[in-house]
Amino acid sequence: MDPNNQIIVALDCDNRPTAEDLVDQLGDECGFYKVGLELLTAAGPDFVKQLVARGKEVFLDLKLFEIPNSVAGAVHVAGALGVSMVTVHSMGGTGIMTAAVDAARGFPDLRILALTVVTSMTDEDLADIGVSDSTEQQVLRLARLAGKAGCHGVIASPQDVLALRSALGSNALIVTPGVTLPGETPFEHARPGTPRAALAEGASHVVVGRTVTRAPDPTAALRLVHASLVV
Ligand code: C5P
Repeated sequence: MDPNNQIIVALDCDNRPTAEDLVDQLGDECGFYKVGLELLTAAGPDFVKQLVARGKEVFLDLKLFEIPNSVAGAVHVAGALGVSMVTVHSMGGTGIMTAAVDAARGFPDLRILALTVVTSMTDEDLADIGVSDSTEQQVLRLARLAGKAGCHGVIASPQDVLALRSALGSNALIVTPGVTLPGETPFEHARPGTPRAALAEGASHVVVGRTVTRAPDPTAALRLVHASLVV
């Protein structure tokens, strides 16, 4: 795995010019971008195609939670755009995860990642929706379910990485958002960690958003993230 591509920059913005400007600024420093629902809705699939045409890998964070037929359709279209990763909610159960995995078979480079517990959620949030287990227990349960359904990996908070790596084995992708650099105030992350700790504990990829995209100099900020991995 190209270590430069282990850091995925989240292009969380509401318009195409801002996103293009960031991609231009970051240039060869970033080879992997996350496009979420905000930018996809604002800029459309052409923007994603353009990123792929520029040689970038794209994690399309669709967070699918739909009937299996609709999930399969969305995964097909994402595969045709040339993206590398698509997310599906494991809370939607085996049926939709299997539908996503089956739909991805025609695209050898496409990986289906299961969302476990959103990293901003706490045990109290889970209790509110009727889940009495702790976030850690729920993350592990959903990750195992995702593995059985054939998902290629999971999205998980930095603090869940160690347990997940041992539960899922060495081949699974573990993609970790909700990170901040040491000394930085976490945004709304309930279970934050640093990129370095996440990778050291077994994450395959780390998603970095505002640390880079809201920095006065995004390229310098991304370099700091890379440097933080080896210090
Ligand atoms: O917080 P940051 O700006 O680094 O977020 C980057 C990405 O990580 C966001 O696009 C969001 O989907 C994801 N994230 C998350 N849980 C959080 C915070 C962010 O999954 N608590």
